[in-house]
Amino acid sequence: MIKKMISLSALLLLSQGPVASAEEMPNVVDSFENVFGVTEGKRRNHTKGFCFNATLTPHDESIKQFTNSQLFSEELKVIGRLSHGGGSYLAADNKPGKYGMGLSITTPSDELHIMAVNTLDFFPVATPEAFAELMYAKSQGADAVNAFKKGNVELQRFAAHMSKKETNLTPYEGHTYNSVNSFYLVNDDGDKTAIRWAFVPSQNESIVIEAGQDFFFENMQHNLNDHDLVWDMVVTIANADDVIDNPAIAWEGKHKKIIAAKLNVLSLSTDEQGKCDRINFDPLILSSGFEPSADPMLQARRNAYAISFVRRLSEKKKSE
Ligand code: HEM
Repeated sequence: MIKKMISLSALLLLSQGPVASAEEMPNVVDSFENVFGVTEGKRRNHTKGFCFNATLTPHDESIKQFTNSQLFSEELKVIGRLSHGGGSYLAADNKPGKYGMGLSITTPSDELHIMAVNTLDFFPVATPEAFAELMYAKSQGADAVNAFKKGNVELQRFAAHMSKKETNLTPYEGHTYNSVNSFYLVNDDGDKTAIRWAFVPSQNESIVIEAGQDFFFENMQHNLNDHDLVWDMVVTIANADDVIDNPAIAWEGKHKKIIAAKLNVLSLSTDEQGKCDRINFDPLILSSGFEPSADPMLQARRNAYAISFVRRLSEKKKSE
């Protein structure tokens, strides 16, 4: 059942006008619910999507000078999820949007490693507080968003960047997915190297069928029946002058890049069949050889994903 949920705190804020102080700011997941609505038992963001099985296979050995990570030691099994940003669960797949990919990988020494990447080149705002303000403004309507944007240079820069991007309906398998936030690789000597990474489609051929209700699933299945579907995991090593802890600032210019691994999709399934409903793609669950940067957005993501996870699983339990 889809219903619009307005929490009590948000109602109080509505009556006070569009500007809320930092203490009054609703939790960002409440704002997602107010903006997107709620599909009970489902994610509060990236609601529509599906699960896949894949392998992650090491590629360029030179990554090992930067990390002792077992992610790059042998072929590993992956449970992944591809999804639409936003909260629409039943809408037809006929409009271009922003997409995400979650990966859950268990290393040979039984450590869990999670990645959650998306199609943004950089984040629209610099801090979790600014993101909470932006989501709150969205729950208040266009005037509030415009007022927020007037005072936020990062959002202005992001909007200008997005307006130059192509707006065709491109299937999931045609997109590059970026870590957006920065992390560190750590090697045996304890040296830390700041990185970002992207999953870049490794094949050129792509079938594109007519758009329909579940275009993204069906199109990817067509491609998978026809040829291998592989993404290259391209690790970008930070230059000395790159800003590490602010996801709203892209790393421009020439960089050392390493194709550390290949993600090879084996099969697709629904969230329920593929067990994706039970996975929390928390970006701070990292195996040895990786560490988080000090970007505060990472902790904010962990908090929001946990709230969303608890809400959806408790609703699911009630309906079982
Ligand atoms: C402060 C910023 C952010 C907040 C508050 C936020 C919040 C959320 C929430 C609540 C979910 C649903 C989680 C669940 O129920 O399991 C979600 C899903 C997701 N987010 Fe974020 N997000 C943020 C930034 C990002 C960024 C920067 C990326 C990627 C670089 C990203 C990628 C994803 C992906 C891929 C999913 C879907 C994972 C899945 O399939 O379960 N998010 N996000």
